Amino acid sequence: MILPDTRAAALALAQARYEERLGRKPRSFLSITDATPHQIRTLIARGLEMKADPGAFGHVLAGKTLALLFQKTSTRTRCAFEQAGHELGAVTRYIDWQSSNFTLSDLEDEARVLSRYADAIVARVKQNQTLQVMAAHSEVPVINGLCDQAHPCQALADVLTLAEYYGQDLSGLTVAWIGDGNNVCRSLVHAATALGIHVRLSGPPNYRLDAKTLASSNGLASYAADPREAVAQADAIYTDTWISMGQEEEKEERLRVFLPYQVNAALVAAAPAHALVMHCLPAKPGYEITAQLLRSPRSVVFDQAENRTHAQKAVLEWLAG
Ligand code: CP
Ligand code: NVA
Repeated sequence: MILPDTRAAALALAQARYEERLGRKPRSFLSITDATPHQIRTLIARGLEMKADPGAFGHVLAGKTLALLFQKTSTRTRCAFEQAGHELGAVTRYIDWQSSNFTLSDLEDEARVLSRYADAIVARVKQNQTLQVMAAHSEVPVINGLCDQAHPCQALADVLTLAEYYGQDLSGLTVAWIGDGNNVCRSLVHAATALGIHVRLSGPPNYRLDAKTLASSNGLASYAADPREAVAQADAIYTDTWISMGQEEEKEERLRVFLPYQVNAALVAAAPAHALVMHCLPAKPGYEITAQLLRSPRSVVFDQAENRTHAQKAVLEWLAG
């Protein structure tokens, strides 16, 4: 039999649980700028440590669950998070946005519900605003697995890859970004700014990185009109697709304006002899980069892809460990 005292206590308990939840604000990773420069250096060091001995960290997320929510397609981000979860001892659960009730329910409610089943949520979404709402209402950390504005997990893997080749103090390095001032570019510039890496960019005037990100780089990121000038001092040359997911209708116009910015043998000839070639993949060989360069000895693109796993393990330990 339920006593009157129990009835009064039920509402008090609901209120207490509500207050307790409001007081708990999980830390999310939606942008590289959500981590301090010190944290970024620590994540690189930890990711490299985890890469060196992948079997040694199975206790880090033992008993935990990661939700992987995808509104867009993926190979690397999905597989690397599944592998990262496996190596850290967590269970991963993939949720396809389109075949879930994220299509029906209010985002705020659905995000909060998902967070009751997981210790962290990785979300790949069309709009950055979706991530902002999710992070505001999730009861566990939300990790950006790519949106229109940023791809911070990619940038972490990129600087980790550079650290494998150039050492963990990357200050003074120069990366040339050739092409679209897009999500991958923005996160790379954020990471470079934190680590003291110069970024020389070149691309069509109407597709430049936003002025705010450039201004926040403390002079480390700057544009060159001529891509050959951008690569002249480059330790690495980085490009990405000219047509990001969701921009398929702009294909014809984009191919036309981006053509002078292809990463090819002639452009690499204008760079220092040691310059590495980078690409986040998926690539469209023959467009933003030639097939020959993509698969050449100076290309580190497959290391970048592999390093997604190790960089993401460090992020998961930081946020969900
Ligand atoms: N680089 C990257 O994020 O690849 P996917 O789109 O395949 O995940
Ligand atoms: N700029 C690309 C990156 C894919 C990993 C896109 O957003 O589609």
